[in-house]
Amino acid sequence: MRMMNLKNTLMVAAAVSLVGCAGGDNPGREYAPNMYHSVAYEPLSQITDEQAGAWANALDNGRGEYFNSNKYNPYRMNMREPAPNTVKRNKYGWLPYRSKNVPKDSIDIVIKGMTSPLEENPVYVTEGKALYEVYCKHCHGVKGMADGKVSDKYPGVANLKGDSYLAMSEAHIFHVITYGAGLMGAHGSQVSPEDRWRIARYVKDLQKQK
Ligand code: HEC
Repeated sequence: MRMMNLKNTLMVAAAVSLVGCAGGDNPGREYAPNMYHSVAYEPLSQITDEQAGAWANALDNGRGEYFNSNKYNPYRMNMREPAPNTVKRNKYGWLPYRSKNVPKDSIDIVIKGMTSPLEENPVYVTEGKALYEVYCKHCHGVKGMADGKVSDKYPGVANLKGDSYLAMSEAHIFHVITYGAGLMGAHGSQVSPEDRWRIARYVKDLQKQK
């Protein structure tokens, strides 16, 4: 009788320890598996096997935890591919900016004929000012005359009220914000096209201020 109990105890201990190392992709028992396994839909990587990760599923939907594809889309992708030969537009219907990044003295050639899509409205100046204060002021300064903190230490920041800049168009400024120019770095990845046009509107306004 005593022997029997010992044997049972050993068997239970062995079973418990085996459950803990299930091997392969299966790390064994998990507490609250939904917290470890993201149910987010990946746009590109599809797991089409409905049973993948079934061992970890705490939901009652009969599907594995890792299943994440959409049977209505081509290749069961979650993301839809754009229709062939189409070009994305933003919510205003604008096409992507296509002028190339060129040396400073050629900017006016690539922006020839380009004008701001923003209509005349003082609100764009106000909004542009707020954006200028975030993205430009530390170098170009409150006055736009290279009076920013950065230009105290690093010479070479353009004085936007300098004679050679007074005639530059909003399109020129838009281009410079997008790609940078000379010493100035590009801001295109941080500032959306509509915000770049707002800033350009404000810079033109700033140039008129004393
Ligand atoms: C890190 C500092 C820095 C920041 C931030 C910065 N600039 Fe500049 N910017 C410069 C420097 C330096 C130059 C002079 C570049 C050169 O001539 O080599 C310059 C030049 C310019 C020019 C003249 C370009 C030309 O054609 O000669 C414009 C316009 C301009 N900046 C606008 C902006 C605007 C608008 C912003 C905000 C979105 C901005 N900059 C942010 C440093 C900066």
